[in-house]
Amino acid sequence: MNVLVTGGSGYIGSHTCIQLLSAGHTPIVVDNLCNSNSLVLNRIEQVAGTRPLFLKGDIRDRAFLDSIFATHDIDSVIHFAGLKAVGESVALPLKYYDNNVSGTLNLVSAMDRAEVKSLIFSSSATVYGDPASVPIREDFPTSATNPYGRSKLMVEECLRDFQQANPDWSITLLRYFNPVGAHESGLLGEDPQGTPNNLLPFVAQVAVGRREKLGVFGNDYNTPDGTGVRDYIHVVDLADGHLAALDKMTHQPGTHIFNLGTGQGNSVLEMVHAFEAAAKRSIPYEIKPRRAGDIAECYADPAYAEAQLGWKAIRDLQTMVEDTWRWQSKNPHGYC
Ligand code: NAD
Ligand code: WQD
Repeated sequence: MNVLVTGGSGYIGSHTCIQLLSAGHTPIVVDNLCNSNSLVLNRIEQVAGTRPLFLKGDIRDRAFLDSIFATHDIDSVIHFAGLKAVGESVALPLKYYDNNVSGTLNLVSAMDRAEVKSLIFSSSATVYGDPASVPIREDFPTSATNPYGRSKLMVEECLRDFQQANPDWSITLLRYFNPVGAHESGLLGEDPQGTPNNLLPFVAQVAVGRREKLGVFGNDYNTPDGTGVRDYIHVVDLADGHLAALDKMTHQPGTHIFNLGTGQGNSVLEMVHAFEAAAKRSIPYEIKPRRAGDIAECYADPAYAEAQLGWKAIRDLQTMVEDTWRWQSKNPHGYC
């Protein structure tokens, strides 16, 4: 299939392009490079043997999108492009609603004009808010605790309404848990700009000597060791989940919702210790106050995705931290 991949030079998008190429699909990457580097395209080519077509531009640009759909025979769109920093979204909510919500509406309108009717959207476990229990099933109530999460929830709701009004469309909402890890080659990985917001990139930068120590946000949660528990999923498993959704859902009209997680919860300290074993060095840390908005535990029930998509995550925690360390140690300053 010819697949338009918005945000295709970003962390999850780039790994998905590799899996698409290996499966014989043709990804066409659209990205404005606001949070990624065009060197990623070289790395994709090095790993997959083919360089995807790269079209630099913004998904909010109507003429740009119309010209893409007019000149390429697109079968389906995987839509990763978006901003994802929770703290920034609190300070700059309009930036997030404009990019994530208006950008998606602009994309769907362009697809509609071009009669491309299959979309896979990057949603997030953040739409479950603070869940009443774990593991989390797709039919749990949704809520938002910050503008980033609200932008994901708004898009989910807009897409659901749009699909209901256009029943021949297939729209798949993939709710990611905590993506981590890197390609096993060590050539692709996560390259956050500035101070990392997420746990594993921060730990990796401490391990490689870019940062002095990790702050552990709270050790008084009601969890086995008091630190927060999350469902960390290898980015290549996550990418494969998109391929499964593409194969199984493209020709099934409807709004389809799946958790992409492992079903396994790990604490902050478990992640630190697993990373120490992989990197063979200690990760200094100090306990800090809880981070505003954090929840104690969040992990998926992945059974519905497995039943419907025939997909489940197969890479274990050791692989996640080893692959992250290979990427970080080979590329201490990311793509540069
Ligand atoms: P990323 O920042 O690495 O990738 C997003 C890409 O989109 C970047 O390359 C950026 O340059 C591009 N982009 C942003 N706005 C754009 C615009 N207006 N036009 C064109 N390109 C634009 O992030 P990621 O981790 O790969 O996340 C991909 C998607 O998955 C995002 O929508 C994110 O919200 C969602 N998600 C991520 C996580 C996570 O923890 N990484 C978890 C759940 C959901
Ligand atoms: C994981 C755990 C922290 C950093 C966020 C977004 C969510 C989704 C994924 C996009 C928590 C602890 C972290 C640090 C720490 N993104 N931690 N020290 O918060 O589960 O989810 O990313 O959709 O929307 O909210 O991930 O990696 O930030 O935190 O102790 O320096 O690590 O408190 O328990 P989170 P995270």
